[in-house]
Amino acid sequence: MRIRRCGVAYIEPREESEFSLDLLLTGGDGIRRDRRWLALAPHLGDEVEVDVAERELLGALSPTQWIDPDTLDTEAAVALPRLIDLGLVVTDAAEHATLRQRDEALRGTYWHPLAATLHAFTRWSGVNTVKNSQDSGTETAVAMREVLGAPPVEAATRAAADDAVNLPRIPPNDFDALLARRATCRNFDAQRKVPFEQFSQLLQRVFAAQAEVRVSDDLVFLKKNVPSGGGLHPMECYLIVQHVEGVAPGLYHYQSTAHALEPLAVPEGRSWDGDGLRDFVMDMVAQQHWFADAHVLVILAPRFDRTFWKYRHHAKGYRVVALEAGHLSQTLYLSATEAGLGAFITGAINEVQIEQAFGLDPIHQGALAICGFGWRAQTMETAELDPNGEVWQAATDAA
Ligand SMILES: Cc1cc2nc3c(=O)[nH]c(=O)nc-3n(C[C@H](O)[C@H](O)[C@H](O)COP(=O)(O)O)c2cc1C
Repeated sequence: MRIRRCGVAYIEPREESEFSLDLLLTGGDGIRRDRRWLALAPHLGDEVEVDVAERELLGALSPTQWIDPDTLDTEAAVALPRLIDLGLVVTDAAEHATLRQRDEALRGTYWHPLAATLHAFTRWSGVNTVKNSQDSGTETAVAMREVLGAPPVEAATRAAADDAVNLPRIPPNDFDALLARRATCRNFDAQRKVPFEQFSQLLQRVFAAQAEVRVSDDLVFLKKNVPSGGGLHPMECYLIVQHVEGVAPGLYHYQSTAHALEPLAVPEGRSWDGDGLRDFVMDMVAQQHWFADAHVLVILAPRFDRTFWKYRHHAKGYRVVALEAGHLSQTLYLSATEAGLGAFITGAINEVQIEQAFGLDPIHQGALAICGFGWRAQTMETAELDPNGEVWQAATDAA
């Protein structure tokens, strides 16, 4: 058997603190502080604690050069078995093939090591973001100000007002009016279905390939209505369709060159009977009930392999992919607004449950955000930001 260190592992000296009455009574500051070493290896997905001998061995082993473990000194040899079991050290033995393949998958995807680590260890599982903000007393803007103090100023200034070059305000045209009507929708009317053609048009505008440039049989660049780093368009769209005429509620993959819906199986342990699909949505959006009745939710899940094929181990690769989610989201907002619908985006999502439900391996592909669209409700239960009354006042005036 030969061994080497896994491709990427960061070692973090972490301190965790908790209140201790004993420490306070014995004259201390009342805070118990514990420090430990954690190994963050993205191919594993879970952080693992290591001891000093294990940490030293990880530093001593090469991630590229295979060695015979018999060449290790006694202390290292004692530390080795647990590191192999954890997958922080890989071997060429058949019995350790699964963890070796995870390591090879990460190596073969050309992640920048810091980006891989950030992505792997910022995924949520089963988070209830609404409860978290209730518990921290930051549910409303006023409460937020009280708990968090004042934020940095809302608009930065870098010169004295006299030195500033004042720009003319140009009268708004139709495009400005469209932009002004864009407001994040947090109130959906689940009783009114989105017409099939409108649904189709939105997907076509925002997510479909509009043309292609074929360089060779296996190198094709798509043209879409959004920019994309390297023109590679890594973003895949997975749909949760709830209330669209002529489309069975459920999960779909949107195929962007065929402009077609690919139905996906009901995930294990789920059912779309009764409130099943709505409950599923709630879990995906970390219990943000204001998005639960959206007619269509779109999971933006890039294929990292596609962008990193060109931008290998690139310091900007992950950022470029993440920025693309913003372009798609804004195009969706504007397209929905133009169609008289409301749209939203949320970054507060449970990536781990999304990966499980849609069969995504986070080394290759993972969710960055969920956006969605549908008919706005008649009444505002959850706050929307519409200070000029472009959406709600206009609707009242029209009624
Ligand atoms: C990347 C991103 C993530 C967001 N995440 C959430 C979210 O988790 N929940 C939510 O209700 N709104 C979310 N929003 C919407 C913002 O709260 C909203 O854009 C902001 O309050 C400004 O309001 P407006 O979009 O109506 O102008 C997000 C927006 C962006 C751009």
